[in-house]
Amino acid sequence: MNVIQTNSLTKTYNGKGGISDVTLSVGEGIVYGFLGPNGSGKSTFVRTLLGLLQPTSGEGYILGEPIGTTKSREKVGYLPELFRYPDWLTGKQLLEAHAELCKIPVRQRKKRIEEVVELVGMTGREKGRISGFSKGMSQRIGLACAILNDPKVVFLDEPTSALDPIGRKDVRDLMLYLRDQGKTVFLNSHLLYEVESVCDHVSIVHQGDMIVQGPWRELMMIEAQIEIVTDQPISVPMPTFVTHVEKIKEEEARTRWGIQLENEDDIPKIIQYLSSNGIALYEVKPITPHLEDVFMHWVNQKKESAYVDH
Ligand SMILES: Nc1ncnc2c1ncn2[C@@H]1O[C@H](COP(=O)(O)OP(=O)(O)OP(=O)(O)O)[C@@H](O)[C@H]1O
Ligand SMILES: [Mg+2]
Repeated sequence: MNVIQTNSLTKTYNGKGGISDVTLSVGEGIVYGFLGPNGSGKSTFVRTLLGLLQPTSGEGYILGEPIGTTKSREKVGYLPELFRYPDWLTGKQLLEAHAELCKIPVRQRKKRIEEVVELVGMTGREKGRISGFSKGMSQRIGLACAILNDPKVVFLDEPTSALDPIGRKDVRDLMLYLRDQGKTVFLNSHLLYEVESVCDHVSIVHQGDMIVQGPWRELMMIEAQIEIVTDQPISVPMPTFVTHVEKIKEEEARTRWGIQLENEDDIPKIIQYLSSNGIALYEVKPITPHLEDVFMHWVNQKKESAYVDH
């Protein structure tokens, strides 16, 4: 069973903004990245899934239960994007109040609170008042609330926006820990480098439309890519397995080229071919695509097709 399933789910605000026509399935035990620039509809989508906003059209299910129902929210954790908790409480009091709300049996509360405080890396700080917390500590207490009821699926809306590099690493480790426990983490983010280190599966949204989804490494159409440095122009004709060649930079007596190939096995073949044709290679470097390249590729493609359509 899919943990999250939507069919053409749409939420617009009086016909404007929001997000439209999202069909996706998210399996168990993964960190799923929901990516898009500011204003692309990420928070709208999550809030609709959680029943905080009424869908304009389409349908959605969480753990098989229709969205908007109490049952669909039972095993869910949520870290909202801009949250504010009553700041006169201490961190511990806030967690106790949450434990009450999610009906954690009284006898288990103390232990569970200690567990989550440790998981989010704030042991010893939970007795302080929220008003005295740094942004990073506030974010951590928010995360602690989100996972307190041991949810099967956790929605994190930009969980690292307020965090320094150490805090970001801690949150990444926490997401991977949850995944290894068999939980599903649905991560809203525009921080691509961060997402690529924890997610295999992503959706890319842009201006309220889902552009593409899938395992992000497979979304890059280029199969293999290298950069080479030569001391002369490449004057020989290129073999057919070379799909694209471009000059990247002239560097004094050297020239740097980008070469795209049909697949990885073509890398030794092209090196052999150029060498045997008398072209001296001063550097050969495989280029691994980053999520940013995947993202830009698909966003640009959408812009181009929009230009053709209209
Ligand atoms: N309550 C609202 N009323 C009207 N329009 C809204 C409302 N909330 C969001 N929008 C619009 O819907 C679009 C998507 O907003 P949303 O907050 O879902 O995007 P986002 O991807 O989460 O952005 P960010 O990265 O800035 O958090 C935007 O154009 C926004 O202006
Ligand atoms: Mg948002």
